[in-house]
Amino acid sequence: MTSIKRSQHSYLQTAGFITGGTTLLLGLLALKYPERPIFAERHDELPYPGGYPLVGMALDIMKNKETIHCFFLQVFENLNTLTWYGRGIGMPRSVVTIDPRNIEHILKSNFENYVKGPMLNDSSMELLGHGIFNSNGDVWRYQRKTASHIFNVKNFRDNFTKTFIRHIRYMNEHIFDLAAESGHPLDFHDIMYKFTLDSFVELSFGEEVRALATKDKVPFASSFDACQLNVAQRFVNPMYKLTEPLTAWFMPWRTSLKHHLAVIDDFAFGVIDKRRQDLAMGQEYGDLLSRFMTATNVKNEQLSNKELRDVVLNFVIAGRDTTAQALSWTFYCLLTDPRVEHALLEEVNLHITDDLENDPAALYEVIKGMKYANANPTNNLSLLVSLKEVLRLYPSVPENQKYALNEDILPDGTRVKKNDYVIWCPWSQGRSTKIWGEDAKEFKPERWITDENDLRNEPAAKWTAFHAGRQNLATLEALVAIVCLLRRYTFELLPDQDITYQYSLTLPMKNGMKIYVHHRRDRTMTQQ
Ligand code: HEM
Repeated sequence: MTSIKRSQHSYLQTAGFITGGTTLLLGLLALKYPERPIFAERHDELPYPGGYPLVGMALDIMKNKETIHCFFLQVFENLNTLTWYGRGIGMPRSVVTIDPRNIEHILKSNFENYVKGPMLNDSSMELLGHGIFNSNGDVWRYQRKTASHIFNVKNFRDNFTKTFIRHIRYMNEHIFDLAAESGHPLDFHDIMYKFTLDSFVELSFGEEVRALATKDKVPFASSFDACQLNVAQRFVNPMYKLTEPLTAWFMPWRTSLKHHLAVIDDFAFGVIDKRRQDLAMGQEYGDLLSRFMTATNVKNEQLSNKELRDVVLNFVIAGRDTTAQALSWTFYCLLTDPRVEHALLEEVNLHITDDLENDPAALYEVIKGMKYANANPTNNLSLLVSLKEVLRLYPSVPENQKYALNEDILPDGTRVKKNDYVIWCPWSQGRSTKIWGEDAKEFKPERWITDENDLRNEPAAKWTAFHAGRQNLATLEALVAIVCLLRRYTFELLPDQDITYQYSLTLPMKNGMKIYVHHRRDRTMTQQ
């Protein structure tokens, strides 16, 4: 009896020593790393927003993940800087910047030193595979080169616009017209996603998913969205490799990532198999899938089904989400600023007729010609400057990052170490008073017009909606949809909505955007 008591006593004593020792050690470490993750070195030359002992910024990032773009902007403003550094336990060391000189440097001048990096590759490999968003070097280059045969002016003008117009017509007749007659509200954001999904799946895979014809979400779209959200969540959860299996174990009723991936793969591989058979029988296609089927990869071999799946799905993501979001935020801005909506309508009525809408190639050309500031005789606002302004405030890719292969010094003097990440933030950049002036957070399309009434050309590294590129073709497709909707309808926002973004890799609306639809009676032209 006595010996049992003695062994219990020594067990408790040992446990007490271990607990006390650990607490003391953690306390000492917390003194050494009061705001930084444990064992992280200081980075004194750059402002640091601060954090918690031993974990650094990780808790703040996880706590603010739903509003992460606003959180980053607040950090830039609180620290009164264009560049800071971020560090959280389990998260790579990152330089975070909105300085246009730095952005120009990583995206252009020293492009070769900055790659997509293991964080993106690890968290998105199941979804993106080796597609354009997830690849570097030669794999990235051959995809860009092959795609350039599809993404050219002629194809956009003649084929893309035709496909867009056809889906817009369907959307108008089967959704907006019915809503206008019934008076029932609609979720505009949801409709835009369906419209761009139908359009881009057709342009990429030559297939119809008929999202607009389906009341709920089609399974492909549900799974596609779930996978993208999952990738985004991994960026703000350094423990995802542990938490994801645990969640699956504790909540077996939730649809698994594996299931969502299987839905996407079944669709993609099904289309690819069918296409191979069609091509073998001599059928001809002009879409992205067929283009890549006749191309060769970096090994100079024909692409496997898996490579084709990766390539084409990446393009669906590229076109579908960005365009749906740009359209949704544009109409949000117009509905909250009738002055601009009215000005754009004047411009549209001046240039676009019903006949033009029946001739997609001609419509494309006219819209392209409307790009200059004085497109409107009574005021200076135009569609193009308004879309630029929307994308300044609501960039479809609000944050992005690259991984440094070698040590480097950014133009503002920041030292980047090998394996650091450099994050740049179009959301914060567009709203920074240091970059866009005191009225940075206001929607003011006229800021894009010079005193001489010309279009103000801001450098791509200052207006980073397209990062280093100028995707004029992509913008034109969005403009085609805006024109067709603006001519035909007035939309009215339902009151008391919380219209805000959802944290994701792109900028979806978290709660959608509910609207009433009315036919535009004050149009000067006849209704179709
Ligand atoms: C308003 C609409 C759009 C916006 C704001 C937008 C924005 C962007 C941005 C910021 C990137 C860089 C992403 C990164 O490097 O991680 C990007 C890449 C890309 N976008 Fe768009 N985009 C739009 C529409 C489109 C459309 C309609 C297409 C054509 C289907 C398209 C095709 C691509 C492709 C292929 C890439 C990858 C380029 C590369 O890595 O070289 N985008 N886009």
